Amino acid sequence: MTSATLLIVDDEKSTRDGLRMALEDRFDCYVAADIKQAIGLLKSEPIDLLLTDLRLAGDSGMDLLDQALALPRPPVAIMMTAYGSVDTAVEAMRRGAWNFVTKPLNLDEVELLLNRALRSRSLEKDNVRLEHEVQDLREKSGTSKHGLESLIGKSPAMQHIGDLVSQVAPTRATVLIEGESGTGKELVAHAIHQLSGRPADKLLVVNCAALSPQLLESELFGHEKGAFTGATQKRIGRFEQADGGTIFLDEIGEIDQATQVKLLRVLGERTIERVGSNTPVNVDVRVITATNQNLRSLVSKGEFREDLFFRLNVVRVLMPTLRARSEDVILLSQAFLREFSLENNKEIKPLSDQALAQLRSYPWPGNVRELRTAIEHGVVMSNDPIIGIHHLPYFLNTADGAPSTGAPDTPQIFEKKENSLASEGEFNLHALELRTIQRALQHTDDNRTDAAQLLGISRRTLQRKLKELQNDPQV
Ligand SMILES: Nc1ncnc2c1ncn2[C@@H]1O[C@H](COP(=O)(O)OP(=O)(O)OP(=O)(O)O)[C@@H](O)[C@H]1O
Ligand SMILES: [Mg+2]
Repeated sequence: MTSATLLIVDDEKSTRDGLRMALEDRFDCYVAADIKQAIGLLKSEPIDLLLTDLRLAGDSGMDLLDQALALPRPPVAIMMTAYGSVDTAVEAMRRGAWNFVTKPLNLDEVELLLNRALRSRSLEKDNVRLEHEVQDLREKSGTSKHGLESLIGKSPAMQHIGDLVSQVAPTRATVLIEGESGTGKELVAHAIHQLSGRPADKLLVVNCAALSPQLLESELFGHEKGAFTGATQKRIGRFEQADGGTIFLDEIGEIDQATQVKLLRVLGERTIERVGSNTPVNVDVRVITATNQNLRSLVSKGEFREDLFFRLNVVRVLMPTLRARSEDVILLSQAFLREFSLENNKEIKPLSDQALAQLRSYPWPGNVRELRTAIEHGVVMSNDPIIGIHHLPYFLNTADGAPSTGAPDTPQIFEKKENSLASEGEFNLHALELRTIQRALQHTDDNRTDAAQLLGISRRTLQRKLKELQNDPQV
C-alpha cells in the first residue's frame, strides 16, 4: 500500500518537527509554517490529510481551513487547538474540518485520529468512484434516474445483481424477484424497467396483497359496465394501461387461484379479457413479479400453480440479505447519511468507529429498509459533531449514552459473530448479545472493564446486560 500524505502546519518549529518525526513512519509528511507555504504545498502535492494549528503567527488556521477546503482536491482537515478553546475547534468543524485534537498533544490520539480520517477519506473516494461508475453505466445505457445508480452496493452479491439487471433489462423476459423484506426488490423492478428501453413513465405497480381477489382481478384486467355489483362504469385494467410498458406485480405469492389462471393466459397468449367480456384484447406488457415468500415451496404446498410459476420464473433474481453482504453496510450508511442530512438540513457527520462496527455486526432482519431507518434516526438524534452509537436506535445502542473514547479498533469479534450468524442461522438478538459479550470476555481474559471497552459500552451496562441476559429464559 502506498502511504498516505500528511501536511503538518504549525508556526512553532519544535511542534512541526516533533510531529514529523513521530509520524513519518506512517505517513509521507510535509511541513509548513504559514498559510502561504501550506497552500503552495496543497496545490503542488497530492496531500490526503491536513493537520494544522488553529493559531498561526499572523495567520488564522481557520483561513487556512477555508482555503484548503475550497481547493479542487481538498484534504481531510484536523485542527490542533489549545486546551480550553474547544469552541473554536467546534466552529472549525462547522466549517468543514473533520475533527480536532487539543494541545498538549497526545501522539497516540493524533495517530488514531489521522488513521480514522484516512479511512473516512477512502470511504468518500469509494462513494465518488461508485457514483462515477454508475454514471458511466447510465450514460452507456442511455438511461436516466432510478436505473442501476439507485442500487447501492459493491459486494460480489450486489455486483451480480447489477450484471443480471443490465443483461435482462432490455429483453422482454419475465422476471421473478425473490428476497426477504427490505432487500430492494422494488428498487430492482424499477431499475429493470428504467433500463428496458420501454417508456419511462409506463411502469404500473400493483400490490397483489392489498386487494381482495375480485378487486384484484378487475384492477389487473379491467371490467365491463355491469360485470358485477358496483361495476357502474367500464374500467380499463392495469395490463391495458401498461400496454407497451411494464407491469410490476408485487407480492405475487398472494394471488388467488382464479387470478392465477387469468395471469397464465396473459403470459401465454399476450391477451387479456376484461371481467364480464369474452373479447380478447392484445397487450404488449413486460411482466416483473416479486415476493418475499419462496414461490417454489408455495407450489409444492399446492398454493401456487406450477405452470404459472414456470412462466414467471423465466429469469430469477434472488436478492441477497444485508447480513450476507455486510461490506455494503458502510457504503449504504454513507449514502443514507447524505440523503437524510440533506433532507433535514444538517451537515453530513461521520459515524463513530463503534457505531460503524455495530452497524456492520447487527443482523438486520429488516435488511436495507431497517438500516435506512436507523441512519435517519442517527442523523435526526445527533447534535454532536459525530454520530455515535448512542444516537442510533435502541437495538443498536448498547452504550449508556456516554460515547466512549479512543474507539478500540477491534471489529474482529464482530466479524466472528457475523460469520457464526451466517452459518448458524441465528436470529435471536438476546442470544446474539450474550454470545458477543461472552466472546469479548474470552478475548480479554474475563476482564470486564476491557471487555466493556472492546464493545463500546460502559462497564455498568455490561454488568447489567450480563445479569439480564443470564436470567432471560429465551437465551
Ligand atoms: N441496494 C440498495 N441501495 C439503496 N437503497 C436500497 C437498496 N436496497 C433497498 N434500498 C432501500 O430500502 C428500502 C426498501 O427497499 P424495497 O422497497 O425495494 O424492498 P423490498 O424488497 O421490496 O421490500 P418488501 O418485501 O418489504 O416490499 C427502500 O427505501 C429502498 O430505497
Ligand atoms: Mg417491496
